[in-house]
Amino acid sequence: MPSPSVGIIATGSALPPKKITNFDLEQMVDTSDQWIKTRTGIEERRILEKGKTTSDLAVEAARKALENSQTKAEEIELIIVASFTPDKVLPATACYVQHKLGARKAAAFDLLAGCSGFVYALAVGRRFMESGTYRKILVIGVDILSRYVDWQDRSTCVLFGDGAGAAVLGRVKEGYGFLADYLGTDGSKAEALMIPAGGTFAPTSEDTVRERLHFIKMNGHEVFKFAVRVIEEATIEGLTRCQLKIEDLDFLLLHQANKRIIESARKRMSLKEEQVPIHLDRYGNMSAASIPVLLDECVRENRFKKGNLLAFVAFGAGLTWGSIVMRWA
Ligand code: ACO
Repeated sequence: MPSPSVGIIATGSALPPKKITNFDLEQMVDTSDQWIKTRTGIEERRILEKGKTTSDLAVEAARKALENSQTKAEEIELIIVASFTPDKVLPATACYVQHKLGARKAAAFDLLAGCSGFVYALAVGRRFMESGTYRKILVIGVDILSRYVDWQDRSTCVLFGDGAGAAVLGRVKEGYGFLADYLGTDGSKAEALMIPAGGTFAPTSEDTVRERLHFIKMNGHEVFKFAVRVIEEATIEGLTRCQLKIEDLDFLLLHQANKRIIESARKRMSLKEEQVPIHLDRYGNMSAASIPVLLDECVRENRFKKGNLLAFVAFGAGLTWGSIVMRWA
């Protein structure tokens, strides 16, 4: 039996109301609005209020996606939460999401691929759907970076923001939905972006806390060079896997880490500004949430027409990267 065609049938997103502008950051670390804007393109980011958790924001995004697809929580058979900023080290955040949503019949697990998490999770979810194992899946990209960045480290704290985006995967008409995906990893560059303490390498201790090793450490320059190279390669590889070319693309939704990275990739591929939407000026880098929040914004603005060719391309900690190519249903 041929595999069924599957795709994204609805989206939802959630952003905390509290904003931190570059001017607010000027009061916290030795930085300036001008440096942040020219080096990254970011103007403000959202920060989750105290007392709320990763799963709370994920559930908010998921409820909207379920409502938009007219799906009841009990119909969901699998929940994949892409995140590296969990509620707790154990259990998976997806378990809290399952319970809070009331998705009693769903299996649930987390997937950790840094900023590439949502793309990885879509590729995994797609396989469960195409094999016929499940008919409705919820994929969520959520990261609450504000709880994991060092607010004394100007090289990282200005870059990130909190957010959640969700997609319901379901069956679509033949010829629509997911066409191809491509995932890559280079573990030799694992230390370019990491949280050194809290795992078996350096269990949490007074020393690790004093040395601030439970916060994100990033070699920004190394990640920058890697990102510029890998975006074009991942876009072309995804398209080649379904016999298509860059000229066939209607929209390219890129991970939102730095406006200079996005612009350089867009120009290298000769794409127009309107084909490569950007929201990082308003939200910063939301890691696994960047692409699904961008996707939901585009859907709510009615940017996509039925039959449009879309690619999602992400890169991040691992180092990991990947692309998804789909025809909008
Ligand atoms: N304000 C003012 N000055 C700063 C700041 C700041 N916030 N941060 C760094 N600087 C200084 C540095 O100390 C350095 O000063 P020096 O020359 O006196 O040493 C100078 O600015 C230049 O620093 P660079 O790091 O070379 O600046 P660069 O132009 O490379 O920009 C940045 C840094 C924005 C981090 C960039 O490298 C970048 O965007 N990298 C990619 C990050 C990324 O894509 N991450 C995605 C993955 S995230 C994930 O998976 C969770």
